Amino acid sequence: MLILGIESSCDETSVAVVRDGRKILSNVVATQIPEHRLYGGVVPEIASRRHTENICPVTKEALLEASVELADIDAVAVTYAPGLIGALLVGLNFAKGLCYSAGMPMIPVHHLRGHIASLYLSNPELKPPFVALVVSGGHTHMVLVKDYTEFEVLGRAVDDAAGEAFDKVARTLGLPYPGGPEISKLAKNGNPNTYSLPTPHTTGEFDVSFSGLKTAVLNLVNSHQMKGDPVIREDIAAVFEQKVTDILADRLVVAATEYGLNAGLCGGVSINGELQRKCAQRLDAKSRKLYLPERSLCGDNGAMIASAGYFEYLSGVRGKISQNAYATLDISTLVG
Ligand code: KG4
Ligand code: ZN
Repeated sequence: MLILGIESSCDETSVAVVRDGRKILSNVVATQIPEHRLYGGVVPEIASRRHTENICPVTKEALLEASVELADIDAVAVTYAPGLIGALLVGLNFAKGLCYSAGMPMIPVHHLRGHIASLYLSNPELKPPFVALVVSGGHTHMVLVKDYTEFEVLGRAVDDAAGEAFDKVARTLGLPYPGGPEISKLAKNGNPNTYSLPTPHTTGEFDVSFSGLKTAVLNLVNSHQMKGDPVIREDIAAVFEQKVTDILADRLVVAATEYGLNAGLCGGVSINGELQRKCAQRLDAKSRKLYLPERSLCGDNGAMIASAGYFEYLSGVRGKISQNAYATLDISTLVG
């Protein structure tokens, strides 16, 4: 079965063709990052306008690269939640037009279910159940993946998402958007045993909190600047990255051991080398496996939406012509 996957929830317009949920025939990504970088973050209206301009050419390219025609496609999967509402509406309405005119089924896909499906594309042997830590710019969720379309949220970031914390700390350090890769790069030349940052506590066993850490970095930088002391950005980046990755790896290992399952790590932040290394090492010590997406599938892409859409299709999910988009929606909700 050939599925065309469409992703437009944030600052990437991406369209892919995927066979049977596992085999990528094409995955075209048009990123808007250089433009949003000028403003220090994603500007929602600009994002919607760029999606509108890009969606047709990106779709054409995805079909061309996959060497298929629209008539060969069996269904269209599209991200309908969560994300920037104007951005989501561009992809959703485009998918509706395609499906209505070509008489194809449309499958609405939750963005975080898509990130989890990126693990199926990169690990042919992976099957549920497993625990997945989804770490992106907008969400940090510890998810029990009971089945391909059955999810239970075990914990989440109670304030800032992990990627959001990276982006905000980067801004404090005067680094461009998106902050994750910038901090990671700086941290390689820093000493993580210099500054001291707090370890935020949460009541939920699998919840995490990053806002206290982010504020601590801000206070640290401000107090140094007020005293005229130099701020060693590399060291702050290293301390911050160490804290965040320690907290995330620790929670994932506890979840995997408590449920007696293997673990997956996915979402934009999952490309972080330090996080991957810590999760792999600590899970290995508990004789648990770590599944990761390929680097090209860590960030937002249409292939993960097509893959998730395949499993949703098999479970009977079909979008109506009145399907709406939602800025926020729980991953365990069936279809909004
Ligand atoms: O999943 P994603 O592409 O978009 C959302 O769904 O939000 O995640 C983007 C996030 C951004 O916050 C970005 O700073 C972060 O992923 N990120 C990283 C790294 N590369 C991207 N965070 C930490 N380390 C990285 N190397
Ligand atoms: Zn994402």
